[in-house]
Amino acid sequence: MVSVSLAHYLQKSVEPNQTGIALTNTILCLCNASKIIAKALCENGLPDNQLGIHVGDINSDGDSQKALDVLADKAIISSFTNASIAAYFSEEQETALLLEPDGKLVICVDPLDGSSNIDNNLSVGTIFSILARKSKIFEPEYIMSDALQPGENQLASGFFVYGPQTSLILTTGSGVASFILKQGEFIQMEWEPSIPNAGNQFAINMSNMRYWSQPATDYIQACLDGVDGPFAKNYNMRWCGSLVADAWRIFRQGGIFLYPEDSRENYHVGRLRLIYEANPVAFLVEQAGGRATDGNVEILKIEPKAIHQRVPLIFGSKDDVFNYESLY
Ligand code: AHG
Ligand code: MN
Ligand code: MN
Repeated sequence: MVSVSLAHYLQKSVEPNQTGIALTNTILCLCNASKIIAKALCENGLPDNQLGIHVGDINSDGDSQKALDVLADKAIISSFTNASIAAYFSEEQETALLLEPDGKLVICVDPLDGSSNIDNNLSVGTIFSILARKSKIFEPEYIMSDALQPGENQLASGFFVYGPQTSLILTTGSGVASFILKQGEFIQMEWEPSIPNAGNQFAINMSNMRYWSQPATDYIQACLDGVDGPFAKNYNMRWCGSLVADAWRIFRQGGIFLYPEDSRENYHVGRLRLIYEANPVAFLVEQAGGRATDGNVEILKIEPKAIHQRVPLIFGSKDDVFNYESLY
């Protein structure tokens, strides 16, 4: 197979109209930011580069920010040139950052996913969701509604993973493609992400078991019962603590990821954020033949009410996710 660069892939897969050109440029800008983030991470821990330290601020979600959360957010904002982005929405920003009055797009980003793993030499990532701007007036309250579109309206979504490889999984609405950074350029991998209909691995933070709702408890018990239980198969368990790393594995091997609602304070609607994490991942998952739900509703059909809204997130192989939903 001949090497195909991301730029070339986008040329073939995105319409060359105004919005398409903006979309292509935005994705290429994000790639530039990802190279800065990956390089910083490669050198993390050196005396002048301490990326895991807390830098004081509490972000809009109440999480304390680490140096890399801030570095990644800034690298992404600075990368935008000729991208026609009206507004940038970030897990690390209180509110919309208004950019170009005539911008055609809005973008929602989790600049650094997996913050708890920064100093552990484990995979972390950047997740993004790109939507068409609908508002006519360039003022915060109008632009806000552009970010609150249901996930099914996304034009593109993807995530970078900073791990053994710096890589990208991307959809522009017709299937999913994967890329790795080689000598400064993202090159398409031979592997086309596609989620098998059934898997035999589940990913959940088991330490929260005593807080789970009944369906989550029943579902995981059924997995643990293995061949003797209702699913009649044995499961293995994985939990990376970085959504991007767990998602990558599911694109490869299938299985199910669950961060359900639970009874802890502030977790009754789950932990993950709808517009920065659940929507972009759900778009990729559906494009790869899988399924994503909050237990009751498909993630991509949810109408967001607030930019920092959280949501229970369950995704992966279709049959496994259907089994979970049948318990609701
Ligand atoms: P972020 O670093 O952007 O806050 O996201 C962390 C997320 C996600 O990557 C992961 O799946 C989950 O939080 C882990 O949560 P627990 O620490 O509760 O297991
Ligand atoms: Mn995250
Ligand atoms: Mn984050």
